[in-house]
Amino acid sequence: MNTLNFLKIALKDHKVAAISESSSWAVDRVAELLPEDTRALVEYGPGTGVITRRILRVLPDDGKLIAIELNEDLFHALGKIKDVRFEPVLGDVLDWTKRFTDEKADSVDAVVSTIPFSFLNARERAILIERTFRMIRPGGRFVTCQFSLLVFPLIRRYFKKAKFSVEVRNFPPYFVMWGEK
Ligand SMILES: C[S@@+](CC[C@H](N)C(=O)[O-])C[C@H]1O[C@@H](n2cnc3c(N)ncnc32)[C@H](O)[C@@H]1O
Repeated sequence: MNTLNFLKIALKDHKVAAISESSSWAVDRVAELLPEDTRALVEYGPGTGVITRRILRVLPDDGKLIAIELNEDLFHALGKIKDVRFEPVLGDVLDWTKRFTDEKADSVDAVVSTIPFSFLNARERAILIERTFRMIRPGGRFVTCQFSLLVFPLIRRYFKKAKFSVEVRNFPPYFVMWGEK
């Protein structure tokens, strides 16, 4: 999807919460932070699929990437990614995790998220991080790119290790945070 089309969608839907896709530097940083031998991933808020495509490049043939997107236009655009390892889902991550966290407990190598945690209330943020933690296997990682550090204390509360760095080569700059279970 080109920048203009992304901007048109973003202007109609404030939950898209960005005026452009993540930069290639931010996307590479996310890919670097995935655990070795990552096979099973969940992505929250794939948007146009810029991180999705990068992950699919390094995912083994028997890997699986489930990506949950709330915006209908962006979800339909994800249909262009023809890959048997990829399963796009139209919906809200809060609903999806409510249904699938128990089924997926301790089974996911990584969860990658660019959804705007600032648009969730404090209770929803805590619920989502707790469900995310439960889905991830021991040694697995949660990686998130955000415009603020709002969610970092929650990542630190649940995960054994938690760190962040700043990626200035993104507009606006990203805090890239990760937690390891
Ligand atoms: C900042 S954009 C990032 C898009 C893309 N991953 C990227 O890096 O360019 C956030 C994305 O999360 C989606 N989103 C926001 N809230 C969501 C929710 N509760 N559940 C699922 N997707 C959500 C938006 O529609 C948007 O596509």
